[in-house]
Amino acid sequence: MTQDKFKGLEEGRIFPPSEEFRNKALISDVGIYKKADDRLAFWEERAGTLSWFQKWNSVLEWKPPFAKWFNGGKINASYNCLDRHLEGSRRNKPAIIFEGEHGDSFELSYEELHQEVCKFANVLKSMGVQKGEVVTIYMPMIPEAVVAMLACARIGAPHSVVFGGFSAEALRDRINDGGSKVLVTSDAAYRRGKILPIKENVCAALQGVEGIEKVIIVNRTNTKIEIIKGRDFWYHKLMEQASTECPAEKMDAEDMLFILYTSGTTGKPKGVVHTTGGYLTGVATTHEFVFDLKEDDIYWCTADIGWITGHSYLVYGPLTNGSTIVIFEGTPDYPEKDRFWQIVEKYKVTILYTAPTAIRTFMKWGAEYPAKRDLSSLRLLGSVGEPINPEAWTWYHKYIGGERCPIVDTWWQTETGMIMISPLPGVTDLKPGSCTRPFPGVKVEMLDRSGQPVEKGDVGFVAISEPWPAMLRTVYGDDRRFIDTYWSNWPNKYFAGDGAKLDKDGYYWIIGRVDDVINVSGHRIGTAEVESVLVEHHAVAEAACIGKNHEVKGQAIAAFVTLREGFKASEELIAELKSYVSKKIGAIARPDDLYLTDDLPKTRSGKIIRRILKDIAEGRSIGDTTTLADSSTLESLKKLSHN
Ligand code: WT7
Repeated sequence: MTQDKFKGLEEGRIFPPSEEFRNKALISDVGIYKKADDRLAFWEERAGTLSWFQKWNSVLEWKPPFAKWFNGGKINASYNCLDRHLEGSRRNKPAIIFEGEHGDSFELSYEELHQEVCKFANVLKSMGVQKGEVVTIYMPMIPEAVVAMLACARIGAPHSVVFGGFSAEALRDRINDGGSKVLVTSDAAYRRGKILPIKENVCAALQGVEGIEKVIIVNRTNTKIEIIKGRDFWYHKLMEQASTECPAEKMDAEDMLFILYTSGTTGKPKGVVHTTGGYLTGVATTHEFVFDLKEDDIYWCTADIGWITGHSYLVYGPLTNGSTIVIFEGTPDYPEKDRFWQIVEKYKVTILYTAPTAIRTFMKWGAEYPAKRDLSSLRLLGSVGEPINPEAWTWYHKYIGGERCPIVDTWWQTETGMIMISPLPGVTDLKPGSCTRPFPGVKVEMLDRSGQPVEKGDVGFVAISEPWPAMLRTVYGDDRRFIDTYWSNWPNKYFAGDGAKLDKDGYYWIIGRVDDVINVSGHRIGTAEVESVLVEHHAVAEAACIGKNHEVKGQAIAAFVTLREGFKASEELIAELKSYVSKKIGAIARPDDLYLTDDLPKTRSGKIIRRILKDIAEGRSIGDTTTLADSSTLESLKKLSHN
């Protein structure tokens, strides 16, 4: 961990909430933190704002590291997202505003969304899906993806959403691990005016997979696809006959709501398990408080449903709170680089939640694109996925927020399920680059290796010292990995894998991952994952990957590869290996740089010295080499170095 990144930052400007914002804010009293010190009472009160079929027996049962929240309670996530809004004026309120890539657009009211979800829940039942059976969803950003998620929740079938940009192989691994029999997908997806295959990947993924019995396909693009009789069914055909009557299953608070795979430090992604009652309590509360939610907000979270942000802050949090969400199918630069701002203008978006990598991209394109559009509807901005550098923060604040919108920089993870460290916009003085303070009712600490709290002003590891309602319950099918990964650093405290600095005011400045995980454009990729794919290639002997600093993406992947006997380094081979990774995992894992080298720098015990690789990839002269086992390695590495 380096501290350099943070030099001088704390002297930067502070942005207290404006009087105007504070006066209208949902939470403007700092006393909320004190009140929430009684964590269980706080979360119990919050759980009480949801609709339960039956009340819980206990708020928390904690047998570290296994937690049960609201045990004994009966609840349904789809009911909370839909049915309970049908009573009053929300019935006709738009739940979803959909903006298609081509500018095609429609709305679904809560009533209409409820109907679609009930119908699709019946479709799933007719395909034989039982309560407790995992359904895999592999789809582009279209409303049917949300319908599919909520339909699963309605009948108590946990969903496993696989990001539509993942490869056939990545999809296959996730299908196999989750053991699903039914897959929901689409024919293809629109992307920058082109058509990307989806069903084709599904067919490739299903080669050699026994488990999947039924595939349901949404026709999004009218692409001609292969239909396997008895296995493949059109969504619209099944929906025609489905009934709109489907009571929500009464689920236990601790029943699994979904699995979501995320990269770790081994080649195999982890199936993060989230359950129902605590998760909903956590995401609904944080969504309401952090985004200062009002009844008439038009809320746009740009994350894909394939990631946790899409689950928690596009679907479950906002819909539980009865808000209007914008779903955008396309990309920020199609047809023009002002697409986001055109959408904000078109729908009068009031809250925008996006990622630093996007903001840095907009910065590069220039302020003239947002300037062309009317962004005056915006009142609050959010950031998530990676540290936001103060330059990007300031740009976002000025050119998107018109210097009137607070920015909530929200730190959390797939595992935490909900926002953990974030400003409360009506209360918190903002410091550009800091995610500020832990959310009320969340106990975060900064520890050193031995588990001692670090002093204010120091660098340490982010730990969560008390259970929280939306916490992951385990790694699917692998309690051991759950324990080893998150709970083995310090007794009964969660190890987040991030390093951070705590400033004199108790503000958190996240530095980044301290494990072998790279954060590329806010997406997590394990170095081991990329390495294990590279060594599958017939030309590769050994591979090592690192994350190098990247102006726009935050980090980019640099791969170092040694070749087997008989293979010669060439530009073609470099290109082939990069494409190979992209094909095997997905475009997000494609290395920016790939170096072919005679040797990798290793210690005497054979451990790769990644720091040396980082020096090379980031164009520095190679630092300390005293631990190198073989000094001749240095010569071959120096050839790669730009210095
Ligand atoms: C990792 C979690 C949480 C949804 C998106 C990513 C990094 C996330 C921030 C932030 C600094 C952040 C951390 C974390 N991260 N938000 N506001 N400031 N870093 O979810 O794929 O589970 O990745 O993203 O390194 O550990 P994820």
